[in-house]
Amino acid sequence: MEHEQLLIVDFGSQVTKLIARRVREMGVYSEIHPFNKVNADFLKAYNPKAIILSGGPSSVTEANSPRADELVFKLGVPVLGICYGQQTMCEQLGGAVETSEEKEFGRADLKIIDKSRLFEGLSDTERVWMSHGDRVSNIPKGFEIIAKSENAPFAAIEDEARRFYGVQFHPEVVHTVNGARMLHNFTHNIAGFKGDWTMAAFKDEAIAAIRNQVGDGKVICGLSGGVDSSVAAVLIHEAIGEQLTCVYVDTGMMRKGESDQVVSLFREHYNINLIHVDAEDEFLSLLEGVIDPERKRKIIGGTFIDIFEREAKKVGGAKYLAQGTLYPDVIESVSFDGGPSVTIKSHHNVGGLPDRMDMELVEPLRELFKDEVRALGRELGLHEDFVQRHPFPGPGLAIRCPGAITKDRLEILREADAVYLDQIRKHGLYNEIWQAFAVLLPVQTVGVMGDGRTYDYVLALRAVTSTDGMTADYYPYSHEFLSETATRIINECRGVNRVVYDVTSKPPGTIEWE
Ligand code: XMP
Repeated sequence: MEHEQLLIVDFGSQVTKLIARRVREMGVYSEIHPFNKVNADFLKAYNPKAIILSGGPSSVTEANSPRADELVFKLGVPVLGICYGQQTMCEQLGGAVETSEEKEFGRADLKIIDKSRLFEGLSDTERVWMSHGDRVSNIPKGFEIIAKSENAPFAAIEDEARRFYGVQFHPEVVHTVNGARMLHNFTHNIAGFKGDWTMAAFKDEAIAAIRNQVGDGKVICGLSGGVDSSVAAVLIHEAIGEQLTCVYVDTGMMRKGESDQVVSLFREHYNINLIHVDAEDEFLSLLEGVIDPERKRKIIGGTFIDIFEREAKKVGGAKYLAQGTLYPDVIESVSFDGGPSVTIKSHHNVGGLPDRMDMELVEPLRELFKDEVRALGRELGLHEDFVQRHPFPGPGLAIRCPGAITKDRLEILREADAVYLDQIRKHGLYNEIWQAFAVLLPVQTVGVMGDGRTYDYVLALRAVTSTDGMTADYYPYSHEFLSETATRIINECRGVNRVVYDVTSKPPGTIEWE
């Protein structure tokens, strides 16, 4: 692709992804690559206009700790080292790093002592976020101190002539109040990026790349009704039109009206070839009596693949399979412990699809973060309500219906969930919430309505805020909202006589109940 690009060398920090996001928000295209992949050949091929060295969990003082390739400092491009990145830069250029007695974690006040270009437009004291045990103790020749904090005498340093900068704190996190401004100073003022990474430009490049990859071949795309696969499909359709066929496997686990929306949007609005498979009965019969959440996932995932494969074969001669893979799934993270992690939930329910089907992948979103996919969706003319949709899990309502799944229980859940979401939209809360949904518990309780006794299900409401789904907080609704919603659900929905609100954060809870 033709735009100017910045390279982020990853040393394994938890927040490396945020550097890429902040930088891209300023219109600068950036990619993250692990330090051990960034060698001389890589650097020559990538041809970065500037480099950022990320933080990381290692200590420069330990033997065999990671280093940046020497060429990073010889390309003549600006380099910004953050935390570990600053320390390794110092060590590699002839300075020194020590393990400090006073560790600094959390907020700190940065005193700017020299008017550096990195701090243009900022005050003399800035609130920053620190997280380090080691610190620079001696700066290399050519460097000067530009800021200090209570426990980091070399909190920020520069070699103006070579355009090398190092900061002990993390400008990429929101707790560094003017961190975005510092990064902007680095990318635009110091490195001279024009900020040419716009969605309109990306769209044109992606369309050209898709045409180039598939030529006059046929492409199949699985639609889930979610934002990623929909944006991928519309983009590919814009590139190759009739050569694309979408397959929508309706598991019967969708929310109210969702399947109709997908079919009308793609078939009628966009005029995209669409195979709509109504597989509700097949899924329900396979799920009969199944209670274990992981078994539910496996059955749904496996059946989905079988049906998809069967339908895809009907599109004669298709060589390409489109997927809405996003950048966070592509970034190779640097693993320092290397140990296996525990499977909490097997999320990737369509895993294994491409291998078995022996098709070439078309993944036009693999360079994008979620918010960028939304921006691309807007660029492609998708409606705002559609691009802002909350994430929805592949197994759908099956994992929001703890216990055995029946058609009747799904129907009760679907109606109650629709009333709940209607309430959220009416109160203008939808876009403040990461995900909101109802869960139908396998518990019946006694109630009284009018003069009669009821014995119906309990419905739990869930709403969380989050930035990536990895951690989450429950949403603090007002009491008025909760009581109005409970009243509406019990009055309008058959089968529910009690409503509870889930106030568990993640961790220790997960977002979904199963
Ligand atoms: P948890 O429940 O693990 O969910 O906190 C984190 C995010 O992942 C979604 N999720 C799934 N998505 N297949 C999916 O495609 C799944 O099996 C699955 N389980 C959870 C969940 O909705 C939330 O956004």
